[in-house]
Amino acid sequence: MDPTRDNPLIRIKAFFDGLGIFTFFAVILLLIIGMGALFGWFGKTLSPEDAAGNIRYEIKKEIDSAQVTVLTDEQIATAAAVVAGKLASSKAVAVEKPEQIVPGSDTAKNLADAPAVDLGAIDTPTEDAEAPIDPAVMEIGKTAFIVCSACHGQNGEGGLAGPPLANSEWVGGPVSNLILIQLRGLVGPIKVNGKEYNFPAGMAPMAYQTDEQIAAVLTYIRNSFGHKAAAVKPEQVAALRSEVGKPQITAVELIQP
Ligand code: HEC
Repeated sequence: MDPTRDNPLIRIKAFFDGLGIFTFFAVILLLIIGMGALFGWFGKTLSPEDAAGNIRYEIKKEIDSAQVTVLTDEQIATAAAVVAGKLASSKAVAVEKPEQIVPGSDTAKNLADAPAVDLGAIDTPTEDAEAPIDPAVMEIGKTAFIVCSACHGQNGEGGLAGPPLANSEWVGGPVSNLILIQLRGLVGPIKVNGKEYNFPAGMAPMAYQTDEQIAAVLTYIRNSFGHKAAAVKPEQVAALRSEVGKPQITAVELIQP
């Protein structure tokens, strides 16, 4: 009988030899994995941009899930529909509502400082109200009217984007109305020649025109399409310039013709 076979000390030694070899290879393997991770042997490490991107992505996911828990899908859909509707129906208007004027802004200050305008003075017929209309002014007005005709029609007959100017009681009516419409635009329901109109976006302000251009285009429409009325003077337009930047005016705010 082999004496080593049954010797418990030798068995214990064999066990610890095995454990030692196992541990040796395990440590080597761990070292390789550790070094590999350190020096990026297994696949690329993230660039700083990608790492930052991942962080942002994680934050966005957190924000999204936080918002979902606060707003219901229905609320989000309603809000989206409202925003889309607003975008679809809005024109580039300087200021749509008084609430949009930022308190303390230049616009707010200008509006606060603006002296109250005496519309009566503007609407009082000028001394030369009966004088024949200057053809040169009519020419300037005709050129300026090209823009208006896009919505109001070549002959002021009206169209899909604007009510008629021919047979409109507004055109031959108070001059201050017409100037205010040019400087502030017009929105909301308006009755023209017995018919109710209400264009969603209304008419955008056209205050980019000079006083002379506005006076000329208004003189032109007041003496075309069957109308005959006194010329509009650039000074009358100038007197209302402080109205620029105010929200689109509504027909009820105007002097009823
Ligand atoms: C983008 C289209 C558009 C353009 C361009 C436009 N208008 Fe208008 N205009 C309208 C709309 C729309 C209304 C009615 C607004 C409302 O619904 O309250 C209107 C109303 C008016 C009115 C009062 C109502 C009436 O029919 O008499 C006058 C006057 C007027 N516009 C003159 C002009 C003049 C002058 C120009 C050019 C300098 C002009 N508009 C350019 C769309 C336009």
